[in-house]
Amino acid sequence: MNAMINRQIIVDNLPAGMPDASNFRLEEGSVPTCGEGQFLTRCLYISVDPYMVGRMKPSAAAYTAGVKPGDVMQCYTVSEVVESKHPDYQVGELLYGSYNMQDYAVGDGSEVIVRVDSDVAPLEAWQALMGMAGQTAYWGLETIGQPQAGETVLVSAAVGSVGSLVGQIAKAKGARAVAITSSPEKCKQALDTFGYDAVVSYKDEAGRNLSPAELTEKLKEACPDGIDVYFDNTGGDISEAVWPHYNLRARIIICGRIAAAHLKAGEKDTGLRDQGFMIANRIRKEGFLVFDHWHKAAEAVPQLAKWVQEGKITYQTDVMDGIENAPLKRFCFSWNRFLVSLCLKV
Ligand SMILES: NC(=O)c1ccc[n+]([C@@H]2O[C@H](COP(=O)([O-])OP(=O)(O)OC[C@H]3O[C@@H](n4cnc5c(N)ncnc54)[C@H](OP(=O)(O)O)[C@@H]3O)[C@@H](O)[C@H]2O)c1
Repeated sequence: MNAMINRQIIVDNLPAGMPDASNFRLEEGSVPTCGEGQFLTRCLYISVDPYMVGRMKPSAAAYTAGVKPGDVMQCYTVSEVVESKHPDYQVGELLYGSYNMQDYAVGDGSEVIVRVDSDVAPLEAWQALMGMAGQTAYWGLETIGQPQAGETVLVSAAVGSVGSLVGQIAKAKGARAVAITSSPEKCKQALDTFGYDAVVSYKDEAGRNLSPAELTEKLKEACPDGIDVYFDNTGGDISEAVWPHYNLRARIIICGRIAAAHLKAGEKDTGLRDQGFMIANRIRKEGFLVFDHWHKAAEAVPQLAKWVQEGKITYQTDVMDGIENAPLKRFCFSWNRFLVSLCLKV
């Protein structure tokens, strides 16, 4: 990396459906300067996550203004303080925060999510385990799912960054964890690597998506005692297939809708109307946003680290070199290719 240049991944244009490399361009600018009460950071790791699709799609359902053409693409990074005029942030300190897809960024502390301690976990783990994925899994279960020992926790996108941790945390809390995923390879990974008790594929051998009715049947076998907690990362037909199996007072964490990420502006995400069933079974269904929990991110770190130490949680990252590789080669169309967190070393 040239220390005099600030490489930035710029949003060139907004995508109609799923983003691809044509929506971005790489620009080289000058390194910003920091004023009093500020500090300069140099990016070490960037994570590439599905929420970025939402940031590129203005919609009434969006929870932030997102990005517009000409903006630096938003993301969370592990960055190092390289200059400081802020009393609370020292040169050499490592931070996880919203510094976006660029080499250098100025901060004032308001964008810091957690201070990084490389003795607790390697730097890339602060993107996956201690960062967005781990915090989402941890707080989603802690605040909404609240699994009890012996209960059944079902997870969709179950071997992705978030899902793989949800299953393992549920197990660490004494619950039975069941995975929904796609391929035979991922089914094996769910059982062998992430320790799920059972797994269901939402695709058949030919790679065709099962209908909700077909998937419902398969879930019956995998969840003989019904479902107490559903960590919903996908929405769509997958989630529609789950509802007949909810137990009384089941909890549903609405975390993601990746099955609907391809929809273009104006296209409707349609499906089951389940109010009657929800009422009868007193089901709690709650939207979850990790950003509501950023202020207590540091609280989750010791517990996550302890579970790793005890061998109850394992995590995997897929690290590639070079900020220029973010959109230009594999960004955004990578969701189905990577088994776990995609992380870029800058
Ligand atoms: N609410 C929040 O605060 C929050 C925070 C972080 C993430 N999220 C959301 O949580 C979800 C998972 O995030 P992640 O970081 O774990 O993602 P990830 O590691 O990129 O995994 C995504 C997985 O989703 C599955 N998938 C992709 N397209 C699909 C489709 N059309 N239908 C069904 N499944 C599909 C794929 O697994 P399979 O092969 O198993 O299908 C893929 O591996 C995303 O929807 C993300 O937006 C929400």
